[in-house]
Amino acid sequence: MLDPAVTLAQAGGLAEHLQRIGVQWLPTADPDAAAALAEHFRFAGSGSPDQAADQAAPPSSASAPPSVQPAAAAPPATPVAGASGAVQPSVGGPAPAFSLEVDSADPAEPYPGPSLASDARAAELAKFSEQVAACTRCEILSKCRTKTVFGEGNVSPRVAFFGEGPGRDEDLSGRPFVGKAGQLLTKMIQACKFAREDVYIMNTVKCRPPNNRNPEPTEIENCREYFQAQLEILRPEYIVCLGLVSAQALLRTKLSVGRLRGKFHQYFDSKVLVTYHPSYLLRNPAAKKAAWDDLQLMLRDAGLM
Ligand code: URA
Repeated sequence: MLDPAVTLAQAGGLAEHLQRIGVQWLPTADPDAAAALAEHFRFAGSGSPDQAADQAAPPSSASAPPSVQPAAAAPPATPVAGASGAVQPSVGGPAPAFSLEVDSADPAEPYPGPSLASDARAAELAKFSEQVAACTRCEILSKCRTKTVFGEGNVSPRVAFFGEGPGRDEDLSGRPFVGKAGQLLTKMIQACKFAREDVYIMNTVKCRPPNNRNPEPTEIENCREYFQAQLEILRPEYIVCLGLVSAQALLRTKLSVGRLRGKFHQYFDSKVLVTYHPSYLLRNPAAKKAAWDDLQLMLRDAGLM
């Protein structure tokens, strides 16, 4: 049976996401229709639908236009168009017994500045991508690279996947996650019923470290301005950190993936999920089950399963 509190919270979350990506208008709730819907779903056992809404609706953001009424007005969450639907059995599994809590006592601090419409986002990202292509902040990386790898995908995404740095295939092509690890990431994205084009894919560092070594702390700091600017433009509802490097860089922590996964963290008003890097999963297939558990945590929270 549907849990009205969860459904209303998800609808509110979706409405906030639509606002963030520049949808400026949502239909005003028709109280009669809402009552009929509540009756239809028989909101039993947890008080009236109004009480449920009071408990579940997220506080309306300070920047919300007054006509937007997230909890009552949002359309139901729908699967993202274009998904291939090819669930990979190797990453399937039952629900994890994880906490759905965000690990911050403070309310989310909103991303600074205005949320841009999609064409403005694309233009801003293109500007940063050109800047990155000319970057020489890291002497070694800028000399070794073939191409910088800025990132690609939906500029108004619900989900951004955040990797470590380009490997050989990415360095040659200028595109993120196109090698073996990228093929596994694509399968993970498809298992979530998204297509690659539905999400945004990016890395912590934009140049390939020689011999695929981990990026040095100074290299990560040199790229921080770029990945932070990217995320500020994209404002995804969820950021999935793939592996230790991206998780530690984004969350400014020294904790391990094992300690960070299984719950949401916060980066401005994006929810951050940490899971294993696809390269690690290729070397340790037994961890695929845990990675799928992590993704399911996000899908449930997003109302997509
Ligand atoms: N590994 C990453 O972290 N990013 C890529 O783009 C490719 C492999």
